[in-house]
Amino acid sequence: MADNREIKKVGVVGCGTMGSGIVQVCAQNGYETIVSEANEDILKKGLAKIDAFLTKGLERGKVTQQEKESTLGRIKAAGSMNDLSDCDLVIEAVNENIDLKRKIFAQLDEICSDHTLLCTNTSNLCIMEITQGLKKAEKALGLHFFNPVPLMKLVEIAPSIVTASDTVKAIINFIKSIGKEYVVVKDTPGFIVNRLNSPYTLNAIRLFENGIASIEDIDKAVKLGLNFPMGPFELMDFGGLDMMYVSVKGRYEELLEPQYSAPVLLKRMVLAGRLGRKVGKGWYEYNEKGEKIGVLKTTKDIEG
Ligand SMILES: NC(=O)c1ccc[n+]([C@@H]2O[C@H](COP(=O)([O-])OP(=O)(O)OC[C@H]3O[C@@H](n4cnc5c(N)ncnc54)[C@H](O)[C@@H]3O)[C@@H](O)[C@H]2O)c1
Repeated sequence: MADNREIKKVGVVGCGTMGSGIVQVCAQNGYETIVSEANEDILKKGLAKIDAFLTKGLERGKVTQQEKESTLGRIKAAGSMNDLSDCDLVIEAVNENIDLKRKIFAQLDEICSDHTLLCTNTSNLCIMEITQGLKKAEKALGLHFFNPVPLMKLVEIAPSIVTASDTVKAIINFIKSIGKEYVVVKDTPGFIVNRLNSPYTLNAIRLFENGIASIEDIDKAVKLGLNFPMGPFELMDFGGLDMMYVSVKGRYEELLEPQYSAPVLLKRMVLAGRLGRKVGKGWYEYNEKGEKIGVLKTTKDIEG
């Protein structure tokens, strides 16, 4: 844990997949952390996810009982976003929707003090657009964590063109203090990781679409031939095809590069409700334990 911290209290907006992981990591590394959600039920579910993650860690001997208790003791549920007003850093992790994120940032700009750093965990949206017109725009930047946050080492730091260099320095110190590695990247669609990953993933769909190989063989080839831990179809099912579709569409609209255009099958998979693991079927089908029980053999399978 770093000494001499400029940041003592962290606020998180959104306690879904990413927000709950961010809350956990901040609290585990000694930060008083407060989290706000759209409603109480969702907030309870998010906090239960953190508890379950720590309990699993305890069973595996990665976390002690005392660490678990002190981590949970540092986490507070906000009654409303106003409760985040005395935070030194606020990380927004709400749904990937530009209007929603702009609204949240406008509220944070009003309620937080002048020294508060404001971060967005967006995967694909423009940081300058989210923070446009804010009084504290120079205190705001992109802070892109990866899923699952407690296990993934990397964070991409994406300052906008008006972010102050002191803001970037303070965020770098914060990222080091929570035991993560960072890279700094310009405010551009997909930053580094998703910008490189999406042409590869979209090409995997094209291979299947063109009948060149099966989904299982493409995944097997990538895992055994490139030594990747997951194949592209497994990865898409993990992240969610709807999220991926929205992201690549945004990237294509801004960059106009054919490598980011979505193969026609991706939109049809989303429309057919094959969104991935979260709904029990995507490229693969899953049982309640999350084990694979089937795979899409041909596009005829979704044509009914
Ligand atoms: N899931 C991933 O793999 C991943 C990885 C990196 C970055 N991201 C980015 O992180 C952000 C969140 O993604 P996620 O996967 O956690 O989504 P999610 O749907 O799991 O969680 C979003 C949460 O925001 C909450 N929310 C909506 N409006 C709110 C409001 N006004 N106040 C407080 N909470 C509100 C929702 O209730 C929901 O629980 C997105 O910008 C996404 O692009 C996602």
